[in-house]
Amino acid sequence: MERAKQPARRMMLSVETVMTTRSGVRLMLTVWVLALATTVGAQTAPKPYEPTVGQAGKDVVWVPTPQALVEKMLDLGQLTPNDYLIDLGSGDGRTVITAARRGSRALGVEFNPDMVALARRSATEAKVGDRAQFVEGDLFEADLSKAQVITMFLLPSINMKLRPKLLGLKPGTRIVTNSFTMEDWMADETVNVTENCSSWCQALLWVVPAKVEGTWQTPQGPLVLQQTFQMLNGTFGGTSLVDAKLRGEQIMFTVGTVKYTGTVSGTSMKGTTSTGATWTATKP
Ligand SMILES: C[S@@+](CC[C@H](N)C(=O)[O-])C[C@H]1O[C@@H](n2cnc3c(N)ncnc32)[C@H](O)[C@@H]1O
Repeated sequence: MERAKQPARRMMLSVETVMTTRSGVRLMLTVWVLALATTVGAQTAPKPYEPTVGQAGKDVVWVPTPQALVEKMLDLGQLTPNDYLIDLGSGDGRTVITAARRGSRALGVEFNPDMVALARRSATEAKVGDRAQFVEGDLFEADLSKAQVITMFLLPSINMKLRPKLLGLKPGTRIVTNSFTMEDWMADETVNVTENCSSWCQALLWVVPAKVEGTWQTPQGPLVLQQTFQMLNGTFGGTSLVDAKLRGEQIMFTVGTVKYTGTVSGTSMKGTTSTGATWTATKP
Protein backbone atom coordinates (compact mmCIF):
# COMPACT_ATOMS: atom_id res chain seq x y z
CA MET A 1 0.00 0.00 0.00
CA GLU A 2 2.90 2.38 0.87
CA ARG A 3 4.59 1.74 -2.50
CA ALA A 4 1.45 2.69 -4.40
CA LYS A 5 1.60 6.25 -3.04
CA GLN A 6 5.14 6.93 -4.35
CA PRO A 7 4.22 8.21 -7.89
CA ALA A 8 1.82 10.72 -6.35
CA ARG A 9 4.49 12.01 -3.96
CA ARG A 10 7.09 12.38 -6.76
CA MET A 11 4.58 14.40 -8.80
CA MET A 12 4.05 16.77 -5.86
CA LEU A 13 7.81 17.38 -5.41
CA SER A 14 8.60 18.11 -9.10
CA VAL A 15 5.78 20.63 -9.42
CA GLU A 16 6.93 22.38 -6.22
CA THR A 17 10.52 22.70 -7.55
CA VAL A 18 9.43 24.43 -10.79
CA MET A 19 7.04 26.92 -9.18
CA THR A 20 9.49 29.11 -7.24
CA THR A 21 8.64 32.63 -8.47
CA ARG A 22 5.01 33.47 -8.00
CA SER A 23 4.11 32.33 -4.52
CA GLY A 24 0.35 32.70 -5.06
CA VAL A 25 0.33 30.50 -8.11
CA ARG A 26 2.69 28.14 -6.36
CA LEU A 27 0.37 27.82 -3.38
CA MET A 28 -2.63 27.25 -5.58
CA LEU A 29 -0.86 24.62 -7.62
CA THR A 30 0.43 22.88 -4.52
CA VAL A 31 -3.11 22.67 -3.14
CA TRP A 32 -4.33 21.33 -6.47
CA VAL A 33 -1.53 18.77 -6.67
CA LEU A 34 -2.20 17.72 -3.07
CA ALA A 35 -5.82 17.12 -3.94
CA LEU A 36 -4.78 15.17 -7.02
CA ALA A 37 -2.28 13.15 -5.00
CA THR A 38 -4.97 12.26 -2.49
CA THR A 39 -7.23 11.07 -5.31
CA VAL A 40 -4.44 9.07 -6.97
CA GLY A 41 -3.42 7.65 -3.60
CA ALA A 42 -6.98 6.65 -2.85
CA GLN A 43 -7.31 4.97 -6.25
CA THR A 44 -4.08 3.00 -6.00
CA ALA A 45 -4.44 1.94 -2.35
CA PRO A 46 -7.92 0.44 -1.88
CA LYS A 47 -9.14 -0.11 1.66
CA PRO A 48 -8.70 -3.71 2.87
CA TYR A 49 -11.85 -5.81 2.35
CA GLU A 50 -14.15 -5.79 5.36
CA PRO A 51 -17.00 -8.34 5.41
CA THR A 52 -20.40 -7.42 6.82
CA VAL A 53 -22.31 -9.80 9.07
CA GLY A 54 -25.31 -11.05 7.11
CA GLN A 55 -23.77 -10.41 3.69
CA ALA A 56 -25.02 -12.69 0.94
CA GLY A 57 -23.24 -15.94 0.20
CA LYS A 58 -23.93 -18.47 -2.53
CA ASP A 59 -26.24 -20.72 -0.46
CA VAL A 60 -26.10 -19.06 2.95
CA VAL A 61 -25.17 -15.64 4.31
CA TRP A 62 -21.98 -14.99 6.28
CA VAL A 63 -22.38 -14.94 10.05
CA PRO A 64 -19.21 -15.74 12.00
CA THR A 65 -19.17 -18.42 14.68
CA PRO A 66 -18.32 -16.82 18.04
CA GLN A 67 -14.72 -17.68 18.91
CA ALA A 68 -15.80 -19.37 22.16
CA LEU A 69 -17.98 -21.74 20.13
CA VAL A 70 -15.22 -22.35 17.58
CA GLU A 71 -13.04 -23.59 20.45
CA LYS A 72 -15.89 -25.74 21.81
CA MET A 73 -16.58 -27.22 18.35
CA LEU A 74 -12.95 -28.30 18.04
CA ASP A 75 -13.03 -29.76 21.57
CA LEU A 76 -16.22 -31.65 20.76
CA GLY A 77 -14.68 -33.01 17.54
CA GLN A 78 -11.67 -34.14 19.64
CA LEU A 79 -9.38 -32.51 17.11
CA THR A 80 -5.74 -33.58 17.49
CA PRO A 81 -2.59 -32.39 15.70
CA ASN A 82 -2.77 -35.62 13.65
CA ASP A 83 -6.18 -34.68 12.25
CA TYR A 84 -7.13 -32.92 9.06
CA LEU A 85 -10.13 -30.60 9.41
CA ILE A 86 -12.32 -29.20 6.64
CA ASP A 87 -14.63 -26.24 7.30
CA LEU A 88 -17.39 -26.04 4.70
CA GLY A 89 -18.18 -22.39 3.98
CA SER A 90 -15.16 -21.08 5.85
CA GLY A 91 -16.00 -17.36 5.90
CA ASP A 92 -13.17 -15.31 7.42
CA GLY A 93 -11.27 -18.52 8.19
CA ARG A 94 -11.55 -18.48 11.97
CA THR A 95 -12.29 -22.20 12.44
CA VAL A 96 -9.50 -23.27 10.09
CA ILE A 97 -7.02 -20.86 11.70
CA THR A 98 -8.00 -21.98 15.22
CA ALA A 99 -7.51 -25.62 14.18
CA ALA A 100 -4.11 -24.77 12.71
CA ARG A 101 -3.16 -22.96 15.92
CA ARG A 102 -3.85 -26.26 17.69
CA GLY A 103 -1.32 -27.94 15.39
CA SER A 104 -3.78 -29.59 12.97
CA ARG A 105 -3.82 -29.22 9.20
CA ALA A 106 -7.03 -27.59 8.07
CA LEU A 107 -8.77 -26.54 4.87
CA GLY A 108 -11.49 -23.95 4.36
CA VAL A 109 -13.80 -24.16 1.35
CA GLU A 110 -15.42 -20.82 0.59
CA PHE A 111 -17.27 -19.52 -2.47
CA ASN A 112 -16.58 -15.81 -1.93
CA PRO A 113 -13.09 -14.92 -3.28
CA ASP A 114 -12.80 -11.84 -1.04
CA MET A 115 -13.40 -13.99 2.03
CA VAL A 116 -10.81 -16.49 0.81
CA ALA A 117 -8.24 -13.69 0.40
CA LEU A 118 -9.12 -12.30 3.83
CA ALA A 119 -8.79 -15.74 5.45
CA ARG A 120 -5.41 -16.33 3.79
CA ARG A 121 -4.14 -12.95 5.05
CA SER A 122 -5.33 -13.76 8.58
CA ALA A 123 -3.69 -17.19 8.45
CA THR A 124 -0.39 -15.59 7.42
CA GLU A 125 -0.68 -12.98 10.19
CA ALA A 126 -1.36 -15.80 12.67
CA LYS A 127 1.77 -17.55 11.31
CA VAL A 128 -0.19 -20.72 10.47
CA GLY A 129 -0.24 -20.26 6.69
CA ASP A 130 1.53 -23.59 6.21
CA ARG A 131 -1.19 -25.58 8.01
CA ALA A 132 -4.27 -23.43 7.23
CA GLN A 133 -5.25 -23.60 3.57
CA PHE A 134 -8.23 -22.06 1.79
CA VAL A 135 -9.76 -22.89 -1.57
CA GLU A 136 -12.28 -20.85 -3.47
CA GLY A 137 -15.06 -23.22 -4.47
CA ASP A 138 -18.47 -24.71 -3.90
CA LEU A 139 -18.79 -26.69 -0.68
CA PHE A 140 -21.00 -29.27 -2.43
CA GLU A 141 -18.09 -30.16 -4.73
CA ALA A 142 -15.47 -30.56 -1.99
CA ASP A 143 -13.63 -33.87 -1.56
CA LEU A 144 -14.20 -34.71 2.12
CA SER A 145 -12.58 -38.15 2.10
CA LYS A 146 -9.29 -37.06 3.73
CA ALA A 147 -10.90 -35.26 6.69
CA GLN A 148 -11.12 -36.68 10.20
CA VAL A 149 -13.16 -33.66 11.32
CA ILE A 150 -15.64 -31.61 9.28
CA THR A 151 -17.10 -28.39 10.65
CA MET A 152 -20.14 -26.56 9.29
CA PHE A 153 -22.18 -23.47 10.11
CA LEU A 154 -24.63 -23.57 7.24
CA LEU A 155 -28.38 -24.27 7.35
CA PRO A 156 -30.49 -27.35 8.20
CA SER A 157 -31.48 -27.69 4.52
CA ILE A 158 -27.81 -27.62 3.42
CA ASN A 159 -26.88 -30.14 6.12
CA MET A 160 -29.61 -32.40 4.75
CA LYS A 161 -28.29 -32.02 1.20
CA LEU A 162 -24.83 -32.99 2.45
CA ARG A 163 -26.07 -35.81 4.69
CA PRO A 164 -25.79 -38.73 2.20
CA LYS A 165 -22.20 -37.72 1.40
CA LEU A 166 -21.37 -37.38 5.12
CA LEU A 167 -22.86 -40.79 5.94
CA GLY A 168 -20.69 -42.32 3.20
CA LEU A 169 -17.45 -41.08 4.82
CA LYS A 170 -15.06 -43.34 6.69
CA PRO A 171 -16.64 -44.57 9.94
CA GLY A 172 -15.37 -42.51 12.85
CA THR A 173 -15.24 -39.23 10.89
CA ARG A 174 -16.47 -36.47 13.21
CA ILE A 175 -18.90 -33.85 11.96
CA VAL A 176 -19.45 -30.79 14.12
CA THR A 177 -22.01 -28.11 13.39
CA ASN A 178 -22.77 -24.75 14.84
CA SER A 179 -26.43 -24.99 15.91
CA PHE A 180 -28.01 -26.78 12.95
CA THR A 181 -29.26 -30.36 13.03
CA MET A 182 -29.58 -33.23 10.55
CA GLU A 183 -33.23 -34.12 11.20
CA ASP A 184 -33.65 -37.79 12.16
CA TRP A 185 -29.90 -38.42 12.24
CA MET A 186 -29.67 -37.37 15.87
CA ALA A 187 -26.48 -35.82 17.17
CA ASP A 188 -24.24 -38.02 19.32
CA GLU A 189 -23.49 -35.04 21.58
CA THR A 190 -24.74 -31.48 22.03
CA VAL A 191 -22.98 -28.81 24.05
CA ASN A 192 -23.91 -25.21 24.85
CA VAL A 193 -21.37 -22.48 25.48
CA THR A 194 -22.52 -20.12 28.21
CA GLU A 195 -19.48 -17.84 28.59
CA ASN A 196 -18.37 -15.26 26.01
CA CYS A 197 -21.16 -16.25 23.65
CA SER A 198 -24.43 -14.39 23.14
CA SER A 199 -25.85 -16.01 19.99
CA TRP A 200 -25.14 -19.15 17.97
CA CYS A 201 -23.77 -20.89 21.07
CA GLN A 202 -24.62 -24.57 20.48
CA ALA A 203 -22.28 -27.19 19.06
CA LEU A 204 -23.46 -30.59 17.82
CA LEU A 205 -21.38 -33.69 17.07
CA TRP A 206 -22.06 -36.67 14.83
CA VAL A 207 -19.68 -39.60 14.45
CA VAL A 208 -20.13 -41.37 11.12
CA PRO A 209 -21.33 -44.89 12.06
CA ALA A 210 -19.97 -48.12 10.58
CA LYS A 211 -22.44 -50.02 8.42
CA VAL A 212 -23.50 -53.14 10.30
CA GLU A 213 -27.04 -53.89 9.10
CA GLY A 214 -27.61 -57.62 8.50
CA THR A 215 -26.89 -61.01 10.01
CA TRP A 216 -23.51 -61.75 11.58
CA GLN A 217 -22.25 -65.22 12.49
CA THR A 218 -20.97 -65.86 16.02
CA PRO A 219 -20.18 -69.06 17.98
CA GLN A 220 -23.18 -68.19 20.21
CA GLY A 221 -25.60 -67.98 17.27
CA PRO A 222 -26.58 -65.24 14.81
CA LEU A 223 -26.29 -61.56 15.69
CA VAL A 224 -29.05 -59.88 13.70
CA LEU A 225 -28.79 -56.09 13.42
CA GLN A 226 -31.20 -53.48 12.09
CA GLN A 227 -29.53 -50.07 11.78
CA THR A 228 -30.93 -46.53 11.72
CA PHE A 229 -27.88 -44.26 11.57
CA GLN A 230 -26.03 -44.96 14.88
CA MET A 231 -29.03 -46.64 16.56
CA LEU A 232 -29.35 -50.43 16.48
CA ASN A 233 -32.06 -53.00 17.11
CA GLY A 234 -31.87 -56.73 16.79
CA THR A 235 -31.25 -60.08 18.45
CA PHE A 236 -28.30 -62.14 19.62
CA GLY A 237 -28.89 -65.87 19.71
CA GLY A 238 -32.61 -65.09 19.59
CA THR A 239 -32.61 -62.64 22.56
CA SER A 240 -33.44 -58.98 21.93
CA LEU A 241 -30.67 -56.41 22.18
CA VAL A 242 -30.98 -53.52 24.62
CA ASP A 243 -29.15 -50.14 24.42
CA ALA A 244 -27.58 -51.13 21.11
CA LYS A 245 -25.72 -48.42 19.23
CA LEU A 246 -22.61 -47.41 17.33
CA ARG A 247 -20.17 -44.61 17.76
CA GLY A 248 -18.11 -44.72 14.60
CA GLU A 249 -16.59 -48.21 14.57
CA GLN A 250 -17.34 -48.84 18.24
CA ILE A 251 -20.38 -51.06 18.86
CA MET A 252 -22.18 -51.68 22.13
CA PHE A 253 -25.26 -53.63 23.14
CA THR A 254 -26.66 -55.50 26.12
CA VAL A 255 -28.10 -59.03 26.09
CA GLY A 256 -29.83 -59.96 29.33
CA THR A 257 -27.41 -58.72 32.00
CA VAL A 258 -24.28 -58.90 29.85
CA LYS A 259 -22.90 -55.81 28.19
CA TYR A 260 -21.01 -56.25 24.92
CA THR A 261 -18.56 -53.70 23.55
CA GLY A 262 -16.45 -54.12 20.45
CA THR A 263 -14.93 -52.73 17.29
CA VAL A 264 -16.28 -53.16 13.76
CA SER A 265 -13.72 -53.64 11.03
CA GLY A 266 -15.38 -54.20 7.67
CA THR A 267 -16.91 -57.68 7.81
CA SER A 268 -15.66 -58.62 11.26
CA MET A 269 -16.26 -57.46 14.83
CA LYS A 270 -14.53 -58.33 18.04
CA GLY A 271 -14.67 -57.16 21.62
CA THR A 272 -15.19 -57.99 25.24
CA THR A 273 -18.14 -58.45 27.58
CA SER A 274 -18.88 -57.13 31.06
CA THR A 275 -18.15 -60.64 32.36
CA GLY A 276 -14.60 -60.45 31.00
CA ALA A 277 -15.14 -62.78 28.04
CA THR A 278 -14.14 -62.02 24.45
CA TRP A 279 -16.52 -62.25 21.49
CA THR A 280 -16.26 -62.17 17.70
CA ALA A 281 -18.68 -61.92 14.80
CA THR A 282 -18.23 -62.13 11.05
CA LYS A 283 -20.44 -61.25 8.12
CA PRO A 284 -20.42 -63.79 5.31
C1 LIG B 1 -22.69 -18.81 8.26
S1 LIG B 1 -21.18 -18.50 7.42
C2 LIG B 1 -20.04 -19.47 8.39
C3 LIG B 1 -18.60 -19.02 8.27
C4 LIG B 1 -17.59 -19.83 9.10
N1 LIG B 1 -17.66 -21.25 8.82
C5 LIG B 1 -17.82 -19.62 10.57
O1 LIG B 1 -18.31 -20.55 11.23
O2 LIG B 1 -17.51 -18.53 11.06
C6 LIG B 1 -21.38 -19.45 5.93
C7 LIG B 1 -20.31 -19.24 4.88
O3 LIG B 1 -20.56 -20.11 3.78
C8 LIG B 1 -20.24 -19.46 2.57
N2 LIG B 1 -20.98 -20.15 1.50
C9 LIG B 1 -22.29 -20.05 1.20
N3 LIG B 1 -22.61 -20.91 0.20
C10 LIG B 1 -21.46 -21.55 -0.14
C11 LIG B 1 -21.14 -22.55 -1.10
N4 LIG B 1 -22.06 -23.11 -1.92
N5 LIG B 1 -19.86 -22.98 -1.17
C12 LIG B 1 -18.91 -22.46 -0.36
N6 LIG B 1 -19.14 -21.51 0.55
C13 LIG B 1 -20.42 -21.06 0.68
C14 LIG B 1 -20.65 -18.03 2.82
O4 LIG B 1 -20.00 -17.15 1.93
C15 LIG B 1 -20.25 -17.84 4.28
O5 LIG B 1 -18.94 -17.33 4.38
